[in-house]
Amino acid sequence: MSSPTLSVQNLCTHFFTAAGVAKAVNDVSFDVEAGEIVGLVGESGSGKSITGFSVLGLIDAPGRIVSGRVLFKGNDLTTLTPESLRQLRGNRIAMIFQDPMMTLNPVLRIDTQMIEAVVAHAKVSKRAARERSRDALASVGIPSPDERLSAYPHQLSGGMRQRVAIAIALLHDPELIIADEPTTALDVTIQAQILAEMQKLCARSRTAMVWVSHDLAVVAGLADRVCVMYAGRIVETGDVDTILDHPRHPYTIGLVDSVPEKARRGEPLRQIPGVAPSALKLPAGCTFAPRCAYATSLCRSAEPPVTGTPTHKYRCFYPRTGAQA
Ligand SMILES: Nc1ncnc2c1ncn2[C@@H]1O[C@H](COP(=O)(O)OP(=O)(O)O)[C@@H](O)[C@H]1O
Ligand SMILES: [Mg+2]
Repeated sequence: MSSPTLSVQNLCTHFFTAAGVAKAVNDVSFDVEAGEIVGLVGESGSGKSITGFSVLGLIDAPGRIVSGRVLFKGNDLTTLTPESLRQLRGNRIAMIFQDPMMTLNPVLRIDTQMIEAVVAHAKVSKRAARERSRDALASVGIPSPDERLSAYPHQLSGGMRQRVAIAIALLHDPELIIADEPTTALDVTIQAQILAEMQKLCARSRTAMVWVSHDLAVVAGLADRVCVMYAGRIVETGDVDTILDHPRHPYTIGLVDSVPEKARRGEPLRQIPGVAPSALKLPAGCTFAPRCAYATSLCRSAEPPVTGTPTHKYRCFYPRTGAQA
């Protein structure tokens, strides 16, 4: 069997701050196959973005990958030079950020940026590159794409800029995309259109994609597999239907219950009580124990092992089963 496009293995990324060590990412492992979409979901501060940045080699001091491997088609990215990483990022790996201005150059017209992206990867005429750029803009729902091509980023609305940034990532035809909540600020119809476009791209180009989101409902409609993060750890992973229909970790169950589509009519949406711990001060044992209705003294003192099956894993001493009460 060929190796997955991305294999993150036991990744730990910590920030060495004046206030102490913030353990943002702890022992995170997941694979993404070619053509597969993996959703990384969890509350704000759970380590999703830092996981994405670690994969791309974008962690700056005081942060550091302290252990683990990030294999891209079998090659460990954590051992590459900054220059080699930069080349990969501009070419075979794309990142779509929450902030589109991390992708867009403010002083260049949209067409200049897009045509450059096309000709960097394909031997095509400028005219053909412009046509592809226009089609890419149309595919993410940008009206009058010809006019937009001659605009500068500041002449577009925030939502429009984000769609341009996404269109540029699609032009690269990358082997791996890390998308960090890129549609969170967009309205739902545009969001749905972009998600459908990303799915098509992954299926057509065999692109592997990691989609980071705090919103399980978005991930549910998009991903093949889901990794649920809590306090820097993946607490449960499985295919999307398994996670939605048969969650085992109490945190995942709480997340699933808080998705509006999953709630029973007439019943209030459930919320997980309490707040997530700070990465600077993780509780002993299971990091979810302080918020967990089922926690025992074992949970508060020892770290739960990863159990389950190769396709559905969870970190819990007492995984729940059957109908959720
Ligand atoms: N520059 C930084 N310095 C110190 N700690 C940081 C820094 N960036 C992130 N962290 C820590 O990493 C945690 C996870 O951050 P992040 O990955 O951005 O969360 P998410 O994307 O899930 O909302 C944060 O809660 C914070 O404690
Ligand atoms: Mg984030």
